[in-house]
Amino acid sequence: MIRLVEVGPRDGLQNEKEIVPVEVKLQFIEALARAGYQEIEATSFVSPRWIPQLADAEEVSHQLKPHDGLVYTALIPNRKGLQRALDCGYRRVAVFTAASEAFSQKNTNRSISQSLEEFAPLVEQAGQAGVSVRGYVSTAWWCPYAGRVDSDETVKVAEALIAMGIEEVSLGDTVGLAVPSQVELTLEKLHHHREKIALHFHDTSGTALANVLRAYQMGFTVFDCSAGGLGGCPYAPGASGNLASEDILYMFEQMGVTTGVDLRQVARASLQLATHLGRKLPGRTLARLQSQL
Ligand code: HMG
Ligand code: MG
Repeated sequence: MIRLVEVGPRDGLQNEKEIVPVEVKLQFIEALARAGYQEIEATSFVSPRWIPQLADAEEVSHQLKPHDGLVYTALIPNRKGLQRALDCGYRRVAVFTAASEAFSQKNTNRSISQSLEEFAPLVEQAGQAGVSVRGYVSTAWWCPYAGRVDSDETVKVAEALIAMGIEEVSLGDTVGLAVPSQVELTLEKLHHHREKIALHFHDTSGTALANVLRAYQMGFTVFDCSAGGLGGCPYAPGASGNLASEDILYMFEQMGVTTGVDLRQVARASLQLATHLGRKLPGRTLARLQSQL
């Protein structure tokens, strides 16, 4: 059994230049919720100047429909973001930092250690409010500005997040350049924490699914994915979308591994969004299923 975290509504949409209307976002999220996910990252409470697409985070969040067994998450960069998420009733938030200093500066205008300093009291405040915290380590393998990232740097940041009480750390291949041997090296060093580690692969080079499989074979079971393969980070030039949810679902379903998520329902959610965006999404299984839905 694996657990999938759907990040399409946040990581997927944040990179869209044209503002997607709130109703379309809500339809997309609701269709994904009905597919059976246990966790959907619905939006982010970052500076609207940095990510204009998600400036409607409050409006979207207030209209999310509850579903049994589903937790909505919101991405937050700081305590202001936490307060906004708490005001909207979130029970789980996700903070983000990086393994590369250059990316940390470009994405959040601060160093890695500054972000870790900010997170410590934030995690405490969230805990007091009964809210659990997930944490991303971006550029876990490659940085768009500084190149290859040493696995020890990634391990150091992941362990710092775990030490401050962050429940789950998602290692992000932000630019989608990692390959299984590189992934393996980092995961060997974090194997003892495997129940607290998730993997978040962007699929720029077509290696994301191979990376997922290698991680799964090593005993890691939590993976982030994005409906239709939508997404990317505006502060990571060259990055394409996340691994498409339909592709990861197809692989595990055919391997007989339980995901709890309905592939066709996810594909329908992606198609609905693609129709609004007026273009095809990159996921391959989605393209194959399109005529059968
Ligand atoms: P800054 O400009 O250095 O911030 O940005 P500041 O603390 O100096 O504040 C400047 C202004 O922003 C102030 O407003 C603050 O109130 C406001 P003013 O007084 O000028 O009117 N502000 C906020 N407003 C709303 N919500 C907030 C917030 N915080 C401050 N939470 C900051 C620093 C971190 C805020 C900014 O750099 C930022 O928002 N960055 C986010 C960038 C981003 O969202 N990137 C994409 C997500 S990360 C990603 O995609 C990677 C991931 O998927 C994993 C992977 O793939 O690797 C997670
Ligand atoms: Mg990402």
